[in-house]
Amino acid sequence: MAPSSDTMKIQVGEISALNGTLILPCFEGCEKPPSKTMNEADRVTRSLIKKILASDDFSGKSEENMSVFGGGNKVILVGLGKKDNITTKIARDTGAKTLAKLSKNHGKDLTIRFSSEWKLNMMAAFVEGMILRDYKYDKYISKKDDDNDDSPFNLHIQCSPRHVDNLKNMCEESYNIATGVHLARDLGNSPPNDLYPMAYANIAKDWAKGKKNVSVTVIDWEGILENKMGGLENVGKGSSRKPCMVIFEMNKPSGKGNPPVIVGKGITFDTGGISLKPGASMDEMKYDMHGSATVFGLMQALHACGHSKHIVGISCMAENMPGSNAYRPGDVIPTYSGKTIEILNTDAEGRNVLADGLWKSGEFNPKFIVDLATLTGACVVALGHEASGLWSNNDELREKIRAMGAEVDELAWPMPLLPAFEKEMTGSKIADVRNLGTTRWGGSNTAAAFLKQFVPNMSDDKDAEQYPWAHLDIAGTAWGASTNATVAHGATGIHVRTLYHLLKNE
Ligand code: BES
Ligand code: ZN
Ligand code: ZN
Repeated sequence: MAPSSDTMKIQVGEISALNGTLILPCFEGCEKPPSKTMNEADRVTRSLIKKILASDDFSGKSEENMSVFGGGNKVILVGLGKKDNITTKIARDTGAKTLAKLSKNHGKDLTIRFSSEWKLNMMAAFVEGMILRDYKYDKYISKKDDDNDDSPFNLHIQCSPRHVDNLKNMCEESYNIATGVHLARDLGNSPPNDLYPMAYANIAKDWAKGKKNVSVTVIDWEGILENKMGGLENVGKGSSRKPCMVIFEMNKPSGKGNPPVIVGKGITFDTGGISLKPGASMDEMKYDMHGSATVFGLMQALHACGHSKHIVGISCMAENMPGSNAYRPGDVIPTYSGKTIEILNTDAEGRNVLADGLWKSGEFNPKFIVDLATLTGACVVALGHEASGLWSNNDELREKIRAMGAEVDELAWPMPLLPAFEKEMTGSKIADVRNLGTTRWGGSNTAAAFLKQFVPNMSDDKDAEQYPWAHLDIAGTAWGASTNATVAHGATGIHVRTLYHLLKNE
């Protein structure tokens, strides 16, 4: 899938030529332009900036942003608040907001000058924010003839000589990771008439072409029936667009591997099925495949960054439609694991397809399993759009994901995987597991407890332990997060960065 718009070009160097608009990130209390930051600016511009910084008109408080036109150069002063209070989140968000506020008049050439006070990781976060925010989804909008503003930004990043090499590497990595974030957003934003299960599979196959260390295997409708993947079969059979499982494998070793396996919910549209959803905002259910969008985006990010370790991604793709062939409340369905599910609500479909994906992951001798799913409205009730819910059967894995999410500002909030929830979900009188809790309380916890029933064991021993597994409910963070500064609207590409950094460190 080609990116929806041409992507930005980035150069990193010492303070030298001034190209286009000068962007000056300033800390609070900055009374004059820091050394060298006005190099090559004309006399009028210098004196304007000097006057503004000496006055109270601009004091460098966070959220302050002033465009100065009038001299020979265009300048944007950007406030970051107190130097001692800066965090990577503040730097990243400010970079993103700076890019978002640019008007046509600022042009596409931007020189960003960091004074010598700036620390390396803060500069890198500021640039990362700009890169992440440089995204729009406009492929379905007819272009007007006079619309020639689609050229990419040219970023000229300038900093003190001692930081140039490191900053260059960090910007390059951010840029490469962002190709994955933007791909995940493209997939998430795609309309469901065009992005159906086999369309995702075909995009994945095309993506893998010519990439030597990547393979994509598609288990199609026939394969699903042969393999008795009853979760995928039953959720997907009400649609004329049949379900599939898409397996990405990168850097497969010749011997037995031990890869992390990332599993994504990929419901390309969730009507609720026979348990039909209300009409209001049903269009938003095109984002119900964002788990699978993150899996794909992650593969892209890892590939672009030259990741050399073994990794597997599994996307469970289906369209949940009502119809004469749809599964029903009351049905008891088999799954790939052999366990049966009593269907009490066809709108609790994500867990049914993930049951097959989680079980499949056991075939790869996984180091650990992480699944991502826009699984429950209850998770949005609990955490809003601010954090994904995080459940795990392993304290170490849970803490690693939580800490990495916090570091990259994709919050993952620990939630309880209590035995009582498991008891509730395994209490069906006629099947092994029920797909609905007995009450509506704790809906995201009972969903997680359901998933745990399909996490494979590390061996066939009777009392073998389960593989380490974590579940991320991204129903609130995958889209519509108005406080997420790195995205204007729509799909967010959530957790591509969390998982990229997690896997890089493995
Ligand atoms: N895809 C939805 C969950 C969802 C809701 C995602 C809102 C994003 C925003 C999921 O398949 C669903 O419908 N879940 C039900 C579960 C219920 C029937 C137990 C829900 O949350 O209402
Ligand atoms: Zn649903
Ligand atoms: Zn759903």
